[in-house]
Amino acid sequence: MSTGRIYGVGLGPGDPDLMSVRADRLLRNARHIAFFRKPGRTGQARNIVRGMIPDDAVEFPMEYPVTTEIPVTDPRYNALLAAFYEDCAAHLRSLAERGEEVIVLCEGDPFFYGSFMHLYNRLRGDVEISIVPAITGMSGAWTATGDPITWGDDVLTVLMGTLPEDRLAERMAQTDALVVMKIGRNIEKVKRALKTAGLYQRAWIVEYAQMPNQRVCKLSDDCDGITPYFSIIIVHGQGRRP
Ligand SMILES: C[S@@+](CC[C@H](N)C(=O)[O-])C[C@H]1O[C@@H](n2cnc3c(N)ncnc32)[C@H](O)[C@@H]1O
Repeated sequence: MSTGRIYGVGLGPGDPDLMSVRADRLLRNARHIAFFRKPGRTGQARNIVRGMIPDDAVEFPMEYPVTTEIPVTDPRYNALLAAFYEDCAAHLRSLAERGEEVIVLCEGDPFFYGSFMHLYNRLRGDVEISIVPAITGMSGAWTATGDPITWGDDVLTVLMGTLPEDRLAERMAQTDALVVMKIGRNIEKVKRALKTAGLYQRAWIVEYAQMPNQRVCKLSDDCDGITPYFSIIIVHGQGRRP
């Protein structure tokens, strides 16, 4: 084991006020930060910590070599991403081996569908790693709707919009409460699956939950201008209430 340390720091859904005290303390003392982003973008995680990082901290942006250009089922997609995560992990490992502490910024919670997990898997065992958990995007989204997500013995299902339509519809039909993430260009497929499962009329979409540009809309209304690219669909449970 080296003497440095990697921190996977959850930042919560967007509003810096929703971050943990531990995350805040680590960020304000950071010497190295690393974060994922699409080429040409600032990155959601980097945006959340604007104004919190010391000016002299060294930044390591990790730019995805591919996002939606190649389908996830294409073997090239896996190969490109695997090589990318290897390179990023190698850089972080070398910093830790020099005794440095590196903070990896993670939107939401690091262990909940986060890219950080691919670095974690490659580095654990070689380097000391600490994880700071956080409020998830879905928690920020259902809170934004103003209605509780689960009651009594409601079953909550979390689905990715990237799943095939028949699988989405089947899982949706079996649940009481629902969260759908990674919607993007899958929006029409997700809407059809909600209709098949009889949930469409109860579905909400929350864009940029807990961020200054947050928007909340019932899916069946005309959600003019809502883009599905950083959004979560919510269907509230209707379980037991004394
Ligand atoms: C790679 S996952 C990361 C999840 C994150 N680790 C978490 O704990 O929520 C990215 C997806 O999370 C959802 N998401 C996360 N935070 C969100 C937010 N504040 N507003 C809207 N969608 C969000 C979107 O569906 C997006 O496509």
